[in-house]
Amino acid sequence: MAATTLFDEAFYLRINEARWAAAERLLAQVERASAVTLRSCLDVGCGVGWFTARLATRGLRVEGLDGRPANLEEARRRVPGVVFHGLDIQAPNDTAGLPSYDLVVCFGLLYHTENPFQVVRNLRRLTRNVLLLESIVIPGESPTAWLVTESDNETQGLTTYALIPTRACLLKMLEAAGFPYRYEYAGSIAHEDFTESAARHRRRRFFVASRVPLKADQLVETTAVHAPKYDFTRR
Ligand SMILES: C[S@@+](CC[C@H](N)C(=O)[O-])C[C@H]1O[C@@H](n2cnc3c(N)ncnc32)[C@H](O)[C@@H]1O
Repeated sequence: MAATTLFDEAFYLRINEARWAAAERLLAQVERASAVTLRSCLDVGCGVGWFTARLATRGLRVEGLDGRPANLEEARRRVPGVVFHGLDIQAPNDTAGLPSYDLVVCFGLLYHTENPFQVVRNLRRLTRNVLLLESIVIPGESPTAWLVTESDNETQGLTTYALIPTRACLLKMLEAAGFPYRYEYAGSIAHEDFTESAARHRRRRFFVASRVPLKADQLVETTAVHAPKYDFTRR
């Protein structure tokens, strides 16, 4: 019998549905309008395989990756026939044995890692064409990050601490890791974490990084981010 996990809570499923609706729309448009082939796919930080299962229904040859054995065991039960890898995506060499994939999907993971830059570098190595990356980002214009203590449950990071980047920081990491084309999805995503309000800053963003130019409605190309030395002048 399938184990019930935090991934099955109503609040979790609600944000999954919102993210998947946007991702599915975007993937369909990218495939229609861009000169890119998406056949193989890796779902990084797959948890119990919710997105893995949906990616498979799109006809993609999907594999999953997660660093938690219990999540992998449940994912294998829920999404039979899919290969799941038990690896730490922030370790410099753990993913060296994996091939590259036409499409890499990494939702809800980056902000649970203490070395997001290494994660982005590993994602770049694993990506043959397109990376879909969804993350929490902290508000702010500078390329900085915020250190947090992680909670201790199956949805969190493998280490006690995580660094959460700003949008600029994340875009700079994508650029530095070697993604020549970096986009942000500007379409609506039906969840409050993706909207700015009078009371709360927008919490999450959806990025597409690519090795080939892409076209799709609501895909906004971003420009290079400047990462200067810190200015210690008192003002
Ligand atoms: C918040 S869940 C995201 C699950 C799913 N992708 C989603 O968006 O709903 C984060 C997942 O990443 C996994 N994870 C965290 N740190 C990881 C790491 N360094 N390497 C591999 N997996 C990791 C966790 O075990 C968990 O399954």
